[in-house]
Amino acid sequence: MTSSQKQIMLSALTPSNRITIGNYIGAIKNWEKMSRDYDCLFFVVDLHALTERRDPTHQQELSRRALASYIACGLDPQNVTIFFQSHVPAHAELSWILTCHSYMGELSRMTQFKDKSQKHGESIPAGLFSYPVLMAADILLYQTDLVPVGIDQKQHIELARDLAIRMNGLYNPNRASKSKLDAALKQAGDTKSDPQTVKIAGDLFKLPDAWIPEVGAKIMSLQDPTKKMSKSDPDPKAAVYIDDSDKEIEKKVKSAVTDSGSEIRGTADQPGVLNLLTIQQSLTGKSLDELVQSYAGKMYGHLKAETADMLVEKIRPIREETERLVRDGIYLQQVMQQGAEKARARADATLNQVKDALGLIR
Ligand code: AMP
Ligand code: TRP
Repeated sequence: MTSSQKQIMLSALTPSNRITIGNYIGAIKNWEKMSRDYDCLFFVVDLHALTERRDPTHQQELSRRALASYIACGLDPQNVTIFFQSHVPAHAELSWILTCHSYMGELSRMTQFKDKSQKHGESIPAGLFSYPVLMAADILLYQTDLVPVGIDQKQHIELARDLAIRMNGLYNPNRASKSKLDAALKQAGDTKSDPQTVKIAGDLFKLPDAWIPEVGAKIMSLQDPTKKMSKSDPDPKAAVYIDDSDKEIEKKVKSAVTDSGSEIRGTADQPGVLNLLTIQQSLTGKSLDELVQSYAGKMYGHLKAETADMLVEKIRPIREETERLVRDGIYLQQVMQQGAEKARARADATLNQVKDALGLIR
């Protein structure tokens, strides 16, 4: 299949800290696996990272490392487009246009906003509030079919879909009257599905779908297995980062919080144990039952030691390759420049259609 016949897949992560095994298992590993079957764009959302204050030199380091880790995790810049969000100005432009079509109500309902705004008291940064609109722009600019993410991002992708439906409804003249819409649906060869979700001539945006992995959509904190493993957890023992040393990985996994029992069942009442089993499931492809059976009669210590070994083996080559790429700045520079050029051309095509439809003079 040529890339123009393939469906479009896109995803991104925020360079707000080093990448965790939650990001790897819930997102990047799946991007890599699916990248041969789709026309893919993967980027580092450095504009999203600005919702938190950070030392600029540290920010550059985090962004570069994130890009290097994409490649170290197996994404091939020859096959997929890899770039920085801030290198494609269309993201910020479309974001403003979509902001003008978003409602305060729908943005205040975003759980990530509710969670993250809590710690800010009276002075909640407006960027936290409009963050999902920028994310919708990221997705809609590329006429994306599929967005592989962890479960926490599902609500944001639904918002992107809602905004696409809204914009198509407002600005596609073929949707303006029932007779025109019927004719357009007939031409699209689909008169049965919900007309809102069928792409017809004149639509500004394709409707994206989230793709959530069956295993590993939410890897939990090693210190509190009822909480998501997060890049920004202040407790350094809560997350394994994909550039942690072998020793650090071992230490963190061995001190993972489990419970006071000893039998390994992998049931929901053992969230810490289940989390380690989920990590193993994702790394080995084995089923939960199979793993639980293999631990019959064994202790939590076995489970922790074997999970640590698996992670060490998985992470070591990624860490070494990330370090090598970061040192070889010229190659990274080439990848980001070429990626940005390809992405800009595609994003501008959509943005220009949107500008025309809204009456902005080009
Ligand atoms: P973020 O760390 O918020 O930039 O997330 C980047 C990607 O990793 C998104 O697709 C998230 O859904 C996914 N992700 C983040 N944390 C986890 C986790 N603990 N388990 C599974 N997926 C995750
Ligand atoms: N908000 C996402 C996260 O925190 C990152 C992101 C930004 C993203 N833009 C995106 C993910 C577009 C997928 C598609 O994980």
